[in-house]
Amino acid sequence: MLMNRVESALIDSPPRRLLQHYEAAVLVELGGRTPGAHTAELGCGPGYGTKLILDTFGAASVDAVDLDPKMLAKARRRLQRHGERVYLARGSATDLAAAFGPIDGGKDASYDAVFDFAIIHHIPNWREALAEVARVLTPGGRFFFDEVTATALARPTYKALFDHPTADRFSAGEFLAELPRHGLHIGENWRTRIGSDYLLGVATRTQKGR
Ligand SMILES: C[S@@+](CC[C@H](N)C(=O)[O-])C[C@H]1O[C@@H](n2cnc3c(N)ncnc32)[C@H](O)[C@@H]1O
Repeated sequence: MLMNRVESALIDSPPRRLLQHYEAAVLVELGGRTPGAHTAELGCGPGYGTKLILDTFGAASVDAVDLDPKMLAKARRRLQRHGERVYLARGSATDLAAAFGPIDGGKDASYDAVFDFAIIHHIPNWREALAEVARVLTPGGRFFFDEVTATALARPTYKALFDHPTADRFSAGEFLAELPRHGLHIGENWRTRIGSDYLLGVATRTQKGR
């Protein structure tokens, strides 16, 4: 689901970039860096997270997808200097083969790491997005996530300012419980912030899948 105008403005602002630095630091603490990795990013928005995946996590490349052409245009400008290390595609996080098909990406077990900076709560069928993450990760590959839970989405400020799917949103516990159903092992590598409004974690793709 696309962001409304308020969220689109906030997501490309200095406070969001500052917050994303903090989120990246927590994710590195939980799951380590990804030097030399071939990675995918779900819902890259204006591309600041993509830059962090390259600069902070040390990935070699990022295939990034977003539904919104306006966000992709911003990301393209921001990431120009990284050249062929970044591939930006319009499409859905629930079908990475379609999005990355032109570069032969999005195949089974094709990424060392997948990043989700606050996007899966925008997807009506969020379980389908987790299944897609698991499908494209190599065995032992890592899924870095930073998510907004149903608790946050139910707050009056969220409801007044932003548009999100309303049915079947996940609590932190529901999101964590869904991961192993797709062969994603989470263990203790997660934290909540501001009560249980925000959930950050790093899951690992198991060898055998489910
Ligand atoms: C809250 S923004 C996060 C953007 C960026 N990751 C960040 O943290 O600043 C959510 C982004 O997900 C995108 N989005 C929503 N549903 C999507 C889907 N099914 N597939 C890909 N991108 C999607 C939106 O267009 C938006 O750019």
